[in-house]
Amino acid sequence: MSKITVVGAGKYGSTTVQRLAEADLVDEIVMTDIVEGLPQGLALDMNQSRSVERYRTKVVGTNDYGDAAGSDVVVITAGLPRKPGMSRMGLLEVNAKIVKQVTGEIAAGSPDAVLIVVTNPLDHMTTLAAEVSGFPKGRVMGQAGNLDTARFIHFISEKTGADILDVEALTLGSHGATMVPVPSQCRVGGRPLTEVLDGNEIEELVSRTRQGGAEIVGLLKTGSAYYAPSAAAAKMVRAVLEDSGEQMPVCAWTGGEYGISDVYLGVPAKVGAGGVTEIIEMDLTDDELAALGEAASAVKEKVDELHSLDLG
Ligand code: APR
Repeated sequence: MSKITVVGAGKYGSTTVQRLAEADLVDEIVMTDIVEGLPQGLALDMNQSRSVERYRTKVVGTNDYGDAAGSDVVVITAGLPRKPGMSRMGLLEVNAKIVKQVTGEIAAGSPDAVLIVVTNPLDHMTTLAAEVSGFPKGRVMGQAGNLDTARFIHFISEKTGADILDVEALTLGSHGATMVPVPSQCRVGGRPLTEVLDGNEIEELVSRTRQGGAEIVGLLKTGSAYYAPSAAAAKMVRAVLEDSGEQMPVCAWTGGEYGISDVYLGVPAKVGAGGVTEIIEMDLTDDELAALGEAASAVKEKVDELHSLDLG
């Protein structure tokens, strides 16, 4: 039986655990946090919901990384969320220290795990987790594309009135200012989005998608989004556990695809037992390709900044 650990029992981590527990895929899920009592209390509460929700997975809340040892999949959510008006990049230094520490602990106890990073700024924290763990790059990936795509789909469905389940969309690039929503790959009821909405209307949705996280942070006043994010992360965990090879946008290490290499960036990929098993090269328009190239450069620049920080 596979073992899942979620590091960080805050909003994102605990909701991810809840989704995975309710899916009843494994016997046990370990949830850990630096705050004493928090993961234990949440685990007890969740476990008491099992007879009502009809599932058997038990959640183990702990502050001890020993309980996470031997995990097959680890989701790293530890870190601060942003405040209204703040960009994800404003979290670079504070979250880098946390992700470095957490990754070191996890890599020592679970040397064969697939790591899924969700802490922001996402592309940079995924890079850091790969570097600190020393794991093969394919076994470390970040969650952003499933979330950004889900937001894009929601906005398209609202705008067109189409059933949410009849909309297909895709976003690539970074989880931030250089996010690349990809209208050429979007369909509404099987029809290309570009035939359903005009250029300005699409641009409006693209821009709202890029600001999707900030819009929610602004409304909440404290904390950031976690319902759609946890759904997006749980989807990746399931693909790994079930070795499904499902294709999804993932923050993955690039090796020349789309003319981009040596950077973690949102690209379409197949996800299975080993993490990212293949990056898929789709037919993108010249504009979309150029935007992806710009996103790669922007991430590389900030990774250089990350490398210049003293993380202790
Ligand atoms: N080790 C373990 N847990 C830690 C550590 C650490 N070193 N540092 C902080 N944490 C925990 C906090 O105690 C808190 O419970 O991480 C949790 C973060 O939870 P929230 O503040 O609720 O934040 P959340 O909404 O879950 O977001 C987590 O995901 O989307 C991103 O930008 C977001 O970086 C943020 C992360």
